[in-house]
Amino acid sequence: MDLEALKKDAALRAVTFIRSGMRVGLGTGSTAKYAIEELGRKVTSGELTGITAVATSEASDALARAVGITVEDLDPRPFDVAIDGADEIDPQLNLIKGLGGALLREKLVEIQAREFIVIADHTKIVTALGEKAPLPIEVAQFGVVSTTERLRALGATGELRMNGDRPFVTDNGNFIFHARFPAGHDLTAAERSLKGTLGVVDTGLFIGMATRAFVAAPEGVRELHR
Ligand code: A5P
Repeated sequence: MDLEALKKDAALRAVTFIRSGMRVGLGTGSTAKYAIEELGRKVTSGELTGITAVATSEASDALARAVGITVEDLDPRPFDVAIDGADEIDPQLNLIKGLGGALLREKLVEIQAREFIVIADHTKIVTALGEKAPLPIEVAQFGVVSTTERLRALGATGELRMNGDRPFVTDNGNFIFHARFPAGHDLTAAERSLKGTLGVVDTGLFIGMATRAFVAAPEGVRELHR
């Protein structure tokens, strides 16, 4: 079974949580895309009515509108459900997110969700965050070399995410630093010092936010709880 089919399996399970009238947070990335398409199908067919959504990136916003979902701006009202992918998932459902470049909007939306459902294929499961993926850290463009020096002083190695020969620019006009830390470095404990570093806008550490995960493997979709 290929990974795309697994991502879709996980996404479809999560969309079954959405009921008519709900306000929904829409994630970003290749797994979230399947959830947006499925929600669009249910809205267009009339199976779900009165759905409103907020998207976590320009790309997901455009996709959601294209499949018939009503997309709004973010305001302080809670979301009934938010559904998004992840780059790593630890046993407590702490996450690394942001390899798709959308971590800031994802966090802004998902922090307001009553139910934040993570969807992924089984390759995203780790025993400790940072095992496989770099940690994306969104940094201001101005002073980026100084900011990355401060991150290196906290033990990070790594480089700016590139788009061809230029740094990748997020939907918010910032750069992304892909940080790696020595083996055994406790990333969940490091969150506060990383976030408190001057020039850092936010990190891809989503600690204590996800309430549930659907993880798809060839033998089936597993439901995980915090
Ligand atoms: C987007 O910025 C990310 O947080 C994605 O949710 C994450 O990278 C997972 O993406 P895939 O579903 O494409 O693996």
